[in-house]
Amino acid sequence: MKALILVGGFGTRLRPLTITTPKPLVEFGNKPMIVHQIEALVKAGVKDIVLAVSYRPEAMVKAMKKYEDELGIKIHFSVEDEPLDTAGPLALAAHILDKDDEPFFVLNSDVICEFIFEDMITFHKAHGGEGTILVTKVDDPSKYGVVVNRDDGKSSSIERFVEKPTEFISNKINAGIYIFNPAILKRIEVRKMSIEKEVFPPMAADGQIHSMELPGFWMDVGQPKDFLTGTGLWLTSVAKKTPQVLASGPQFVGHVLVDPTAKVGQNCRIGPNVVLGPNVVIGDGVRLSRTVVLADSVVKDHAWVQSTIIGWQSTVGRWARLENVTVLGQDVHISDEVFCNGARVLPHKSVSANVSEPQIIM
Ligand code: GDD
Ligand code: MG
Repeated sequence: MKALILVGGFGTRLRPLTITTPKPLVEFGNKPMIVHQIEALVKAGVKDIVLAVSYRPEAMVKAMKKYEDELGIKIHFSVEDEPLDTAGPLALAAHILDKDDEPFFVLNSDVICEFIFEDMITFHKAHGGEGTILVTKVDDPSKYGVVVNRDDGKSSSIERFVEKPTEFISNKINAGIYIFNPAILKRIEVRKMSIEKEVFPPMAADGQIHSMELPGFWMDVGQPKDFLTGTGLWLTSVAKKTPQVLASGPQFVGHVLVDPTAKVGQNCRIGPNVVLGPNVVIGDGVRLSRTVVLADSVVKDHAWVQSTIIGWQSTVGRWARLENVTVLGQDVHISDEVFCNGARVLPHKSVSANVSEPQIIM
């Protein structure tokens, strides 16, 4: 089987992390976001994966080579001269997607969930329509694509698809994971074209698109706050399936994932919902909760860090206090005793004065 992952987009909402690393390569649970998706696709029998890229393909090509060999699959890069949005890339890669009559998967690259690709194949083949959209329920549907089903919601056939509705229609939203028959390619052209706005509404009108509800957790982790929430949900699911991979011991609270090469000092209190990446060094007496520390970073003694993402090769000084979705880019240095409230610090910056209100430090 085949799959196409929509990798393009500048990942602006995940800045400052995405200033130095393309969004799909940002580590989520100590693994590039996109690798969670690729591994799940491979488990469902996918052998050909198209990465639709419109931004910094060199970094992606280099990073993906290793997984191609490791997983025994073919990764094709489909590079857009100018961004083609969410449908155009399917037309650009049509020669790969319509190689046979089999359906193919399409994924947004920033969604993390309980992947159920095998079940999707069965469901999709059973209803016989051109496409299936995986759906999930959220509290605030306004930032997503919203789905309304036929027969007062009793049928899986989608009656209406509305991208980012301004008024409430339903809390059932597009999870950004699809399976399509090659027939969908007739509806798509090689131009900047939105699948949500230009392809799904006519398919719904034709009765050709169905929804399937996702049973487990789901999160679009393309924004810092959601990245942290998603990390918590994912850790809970890891705790259910493979609790042995999570940290245990008197200094850990709740679900914590620690890379084997990370070092944690004495008298710390780490967790819940913390991930420590490769070569991370945590000093003594450090308090971390709802925080992700990416590779090669150092958090010095007695720092207090909550709801924060610490980018690669950064340092947090002694007695520093970071909170309220503070995000440090790559190679950022926070001096001793500094307080950061919702700071977004651009790569290669040093911060030696308090940031008492949320702001971008450049
Ligand atoms: N190749 C390519 N080219 N990919 C693109 C382009 C482009 O020009 N523009 C966006 N993408 C990719 C993004 O990288 C992402 O993986 C996916 O398309 C969706 O774009 P986002 O910018 O993340 O959209 P969104 O989060 O606002 O909304 C989408 O996802 C929601 C679920 O998270 C929509 O599909 C919504 O309907 C959906 O509910
Ligand atoms: Mg998104």
